[in-house]
Amino acid sequence: MCGIVGYVGGKNAQDFLISGLKRLEYRGYDSAGIITMDEEGKDTLIKAKGKISELEERLAKNKRDDKAGIGHTRWATHGEPSEANAHPHQAGDIFLVHNGIIENYKELKAQLKNAEFKSETDSEVLAKLIESFYHDGRYPLTNAVVQALKLVKGTYGIAVISRKNPEEIVVARLGSPLVIGIGHDETLVASDASALVGHTKRAIYLNDGEVATITRNSVEIKTLNAEPVSAKVEEIETNLSAIQKNGYEHFLLKEIMEQPESLIETLRGRVNLHEGTVKLGGPGLSETELRKIKHLIIVGCGTAYNAGVLAGYYIEQFTPEITIETVIASEYRYRQAYIPEDSVALIVSQSGETADTLACLREIKKKGIKTIGIVNTIGSTIAREVDGGTYVHVGPEISVASTKAFTSQVIAMVMFGLTIAQAKGVKKTVLQPYVKEIAKLPEEVRNVLELVHEDVKKIANKYKDYDHAIYLGRDTAYPTAIEGALKLKEISYVDANAYAFGELKHGPLALIDDRFFEIALIPKGELYEKAVSNVQEVLARNGKVIAVTNDDKFDLSVADVIRIQTSLEILTPLLMNLVSQLFAYYMTVAKGNNVDQPRNLAKSVTVE
Ligand code: G6P
Repeated sequence: MCGIVGYVGGKNAQDFLISGLKRLEYRGYDSAGIITMDEEGKDTLIKAKGKISELEERLAKNKRDDKAGIGHTRWATHGEPSEANAHPHQAGDIFLVHNGIIENYKELKAQLKNAEFKSETDSEVLAKLIESFYHDGRYPLTNAVVQALKLVKGTYGIAVISRKNPEEIVVARLGSPLVIGIGHDETLVASDASALVGHTKRAIYLNDGEVATITRNSVEIKTLNAEPVSAKVEEIETNLSAIQKNGYEHFLLKEIMEQPESLIETLRGRVNLHEGTVKLGGPGLSETELRKIKHLIIVGCGTAYNAGVLAGYYIEQFTPEITIETVIASEYRYRQAYIPEDSVALIVSQSGETADTLACLREIKKKGIKTIGIVNTIGSTIAREVDGGTYVHVGPEISVASTKAFTSQVIAMVMFGLTIAQAKGVKKTVLQPYVKEIAKLPEEVRNVLELVHEDVKKIANKYKDYDHAIYLGRDTAYPTAIEGALKLKEISYVDANAYAFGELKHGPLALIDDRFFEIALIPKGELYEKAVSNVQEVLARNGKVIAVTNDDKFDLSVADVIRIQTSLEILTPLLMNLVSQLFAYYMTVAKGNNVDQPRNLAKSVTVE
């Protein structure tokens, strides 16, 4: 949510800032701005409402060869998207970019009696507050930043630069990520390491409560209490091709299509097909600790939450001795829920930065419960704060709608469940079918993506003028239906909801009319006949059903059928979810919406 970049070095700052902002645009994209300075502190401030391309156009008319600057792409929290509310915000000689929320900005604003405000943002208040301690440069910028931050309640990742000393940038974080890239004769700043890829592989991830003073050849980190911090330089593993479209029209399609490969990365070294077992190194729980687990709490938001619901359905199939509760992070953090002893919490997050999920993690840790991360972004805050974890290793996911992360999150959690079951001595004959299907999944995903692609495209085009959809499923196909509906509403703006088939007659059946179509997920298995009967109930009310099934014999006269060929049984719903992903993609393309950056949303939600 919002992106920050900064540069000080020997090269053209505008070039890095704009390319960095483009990489971070998926985090927020309603307005953007950059400030650069020459050696004398002469500044060039450019802002634009809308996408980075708008900013780029303005920049083309204001080309400078400045060697330092900061930039920002915004996802509005306080104040509408506008040029005035776009960052950087100015206060005298200093300029600030900010991610996060200053909760007590009204009180702080009231204290800044002589200040004039040009925007409605909380961030401008912080800029003015820093300036009030800066005394026209008589006080070091870092100290002014620290004084101001000590008064702030809320979350922030900030970068600050002053006309008095354009060779220096001050950055700080509390609850909003910041990475410092160490280059040759240059130092870079970004709120997400992807902006640094191709510039340097060496990075320092700032911790909460730390402030860094950066020049082209130095990085000095201290805590807000002025204690020096010895920085750990880590390697950025992402390569350039992972953050490019590689010939695809949209990141979303690329990310859907690369699921066979991303799954292979999730499984690498973790599945022993010969023995029928899985092994996860990251959680760091001993056999005794695993055996003791009686209760599993799975925490996430959005797609990560849906992945948790589906994984929970699977895990309870083979670990009869534990209870599983999947919870929405923004709710759970404020609930007074009793967490029994011998619980373990799975903290699920693609970005590893989602504010509500992070807050839950901290609450749960306070209660002395072990936390295990199911995270994608290496080095992210959640990954660093959990007691142990399993990275899903799907590579950067750039499109706002999450796809490849979902599939791998489910599998990573099921593998964690299998690890518990193995330790508890659940029979191999029970666990082996799961292990086998997990091992086969990448290949099965490849086949399904190839085989259904054209059909799904055609059918999505056919339904492009609809604004209402219902997704239906039973058992493991039910959480899959929830995820399918989320995907559709996120990017195609179709009002899509999911119901368990069995719930239809308790209300949703009343909705069925011409305005709606229904996507029915009907995997073969124990509940197949029941699902078919439910579809008949919809058909009897003239519903327009798109059936997704792996049963060759399915012969109801529905409006459309999408058939899946697979040798999988248990994991078939995950293959059906590929259909939902492609359907949402093609419907969105047909409607002409922005696929990768849907309106009002952001990829990484670092505010509550
Ligand atoms: C945002 C994204 C979703 C994502 C959710 C949780 O809403 O747009 O795609 O599922 O956050 O994000 P996380 O990074 O914690 O998985």
